[in-house]
Amino acid sequence: MNILLLGSGGREHALAWKINQSDAIGKFYIAPGNAGTAEIGDNIDINISDFKAIKSIVINKSIDIVIVGPEQPLVDGIGDYFLNDKILNKIPVIGPTKGGAMLEGSKDFAKDFMVRNKIPTAKYESFTKPSLEEGKKFLEKLSPPYVLKADGLAAGKGVLIIDDLNEAKDSLEKMLNGKFGSASSKVVVEEFLKGIELSVFVITDGKSYKILPEAKDYKRIGEGDTGLNTGGMGAVSPVPFADKEFLAKVEERIIKPTIEGLIKEKIKYKGFIFFGLIKVNEDPYVIEYNVRMGDPEAEVVVPRIKTDLVDLLKHTANNTLQEAVIEYDDRTCTTVMLVSKGYPGNYQKGKTIRNVEKVEDSILFHAGTRLSESDIVTNGGRVIAISSFGNNMQEALAKSYKNANIIKFEGKNYRNDIGFDLK
Ligand code: AMP
Ligand code: GLY
Repeated sequence: MNILLLGSGGREHALAWKINQSDAIGKFYIAPGNAGTAEIGDNIDINISDFKAIKSIVINKSIDIVIVGPEQPLVDGIGDYFLNDKILNKIPVIGPTKGGAMLEGSKDFAKDFMVRNKIPTAKYESFTKPSLEEGKKFLEKLSPPYVLKADGLAAGKGVLIIDDLNEAKDSLEKMLNGKFGSASSKVVVEEFLKGIELSVFVITDGKSYKILPEAKDYKRIGEGDTGLNTGGMGAVSPVPFADKEFLAKVEERIIKPTIEGLIKEKIKYKGFIFFGLIKVNEDPYVIEYNVRMGDPEAEVVVPRIKTDLVDLLKHTANNTLQEAVIEYDDRTCTTVMLVSKGYPGNYQKGKTIRNVEKVEDSILFHAGTRLSESDIVTNGGRVIAISSFGNNMQEALAKSYKNANIIKFEGKNYRNDIGFDLK
């Protein structure tokens, strides 16, 4: 079958790497892709918000299935665009319709969905400009720190955690006055939960689901989880503290009611669900939903899936996921992200990446790279994820770090302490 994968990050390279191992694959296109995906299939340079351009590719290249990597096209309604088009509606899209993508596209919608479906999450209320004073009163009732979340997509920057009450009130006002543009015209104010975070992933055909390996990512730029938030500086799977008992609670209290909620609310959903969770004492709570795989979580989760991914995606498209059997690799997979100097602030692009050919014992997933004549050059803040397997976390990390040292580019930066809080 001919496949079109949308996106250009490490997550998409990891998905492409796994898809490419399937016998079922015919022609494989990645749009826009990066220097890593160019070695696997044909990159097509389009803007993935341009649905008409995607339609032309689907028709001209006889695409049989479309896999959507990032959230933006999903929140913009690519699923509905396909369903509502006479030609495209026969082509399955792996990714939810707009109604399902609201689980990531609107924090207020997601919180309300969780309350309606009795899914454990932090207590919250939502406010808009006319209800600013009520918002301030709600803040007074909470204990610090205060959690303020822009309702809409804000490129991972829309959550503020503030210790001081007056500062929190001030920030609420600034958010409602456009601090994050229209994304913060509504703000979710919620109770702070103290615990340790992890992510659990499922693939669903809208009726049934399969649980994928869980992961923990490291979002802050600085060692010891300090400094600014990034898209993710590294990840580990499995997560040692997510034992059988805990994961059984996640399935019963969170995964099942989420899928049942989607069915009950008639939300069409085929694709990945990313549960951003926090373990408080021994209990799981949902911090956020994402409607896609994580990045860099995909770089450790996807390599651990032993089952043919195209087969799983076909089952997803055909509503037969219940029949599928999914197997994991029991070993630990870690990834360390090499980033550009200055990231997550301003950084330069176009730096030549050297020694990629010298890497052994790791899988390189390109995140922000492109080909420039015969060179691979940096093309983003996050540049390359170095994923490795080991019999334990230390063994896997040793391989990732050996190769993090071997790969060279001007301004290379990475965190030396991925997994520091795990045993
Ligand atoms: P989100 O974009 O909703 O995932 O939030 C970004 C980060 O803020 C999360 O990964 C958590 O570290 C933190 N966070 C969000 N909500 C809460 C909460 N209710 N309690 C504690 N930390 C939170
Ligand atoms: N690594 C977090 C995310 O993909 O949203």
